[in-house]
Amino acid sequence: MQICRSISDVRAAVRAMRQKGQTIGLVPTMGALHAGHMALVAAAKADNDAVIATIFVNPTQFGNPEDLLKYPRTEEADLALLEAAGVSAVFLPGVEDMYPDGAETIVETTKLANMLHGLVRPGHYRGVCTVVTKLFNIATADNAYFGEKDYQQLQVIRRMAMDLNVPTAVHGVPTVRETDGLAMSSRNVRLNAADRAAAVVLNAALTQAERAAASGASIEQIAAEIRAIITAEPRARLVAIDIVQALTLAPVSGHPGGTIGIMISAEFGPADNTVLLIDQREITL
Ligand code: PAF
Repeated sequence: MQICRSISDVRAAVRAMRQKGQTIGLVPTMGALHAGHMALVAAAKADNDAVIATIFVNPTQFGNPEDLLKYPRTEEADLALLEAAGVSAVFLPGVEDMYPDGAETIVETTKLANMLHGLVRPGHYRGVCTVVTKLFNIATADNAYFGEKDYQQLQVIRRMAMDLNVPTAVHGVPTVRETDGLAMSSRNVRLNAADRAAAVVLNAALTQAERAAASGASIEQIAAEIRAIITAEPRARLVAIDIVQALTLAPVSGHPGGTIGIMISAEFGPADNTVLLIDQREITL
């Protein structure tokens, strides 16, 4: 596995792959890799001859400097996992490579980035879109893989790629879960034992929502069932339930038909060390 620390290193790796006639799959990450990331790598490996993973804790997507500092950095373990998974090259740029002095261009989906989670994390999806555009331009991959868990992020990246005629195809990969159903996330390690046990309530609420949808419940009834389940868990503080049309993220009501996304978020832990967890389900009605 090639370790590329500069843009010129990764471009040279890409050239060598292309000279061998290889197709390339890109897996952008911020490190602290877990089974969810490895599912992205597995999907990339299945579809492409070579896989490039990136590890970059992108400062422009963090509103709060403390969250950026607290973000787990586990480079050695990450590289071991990627190597064992058969990744061809890893790109680990420094902040100064990605955002050299004088950089001023941003990429933003003007609607999708500024609704739902985008309202509570202003600038977050702009930071994501900007860095993902740069990674797409640097790696020039055929395919790129993102988790469905951050449902809004996936729709934002799909829209950006469509609007900017990006030649890399964007693929969503289903959420990987712990055996008790909790969606894998780098944040789970910050939960204490009691909150970790309580956090399964998110998946329980989504599973019930899926059942309710299958038995013909309206969007309002589905939302009420989710709310009842999460608020019955004393360790969870419900932040949001958003039930939206897939792709556009437009709110739905009644009995809409088509494919909907249910996005939920809740906080766990003490006020001075809150852990925000998100989970999601896509359902075709
Ligand atoms: O989902 C993530 O880990 C990040 O938002 C991404 C897509 C790697 C951009 O920094």
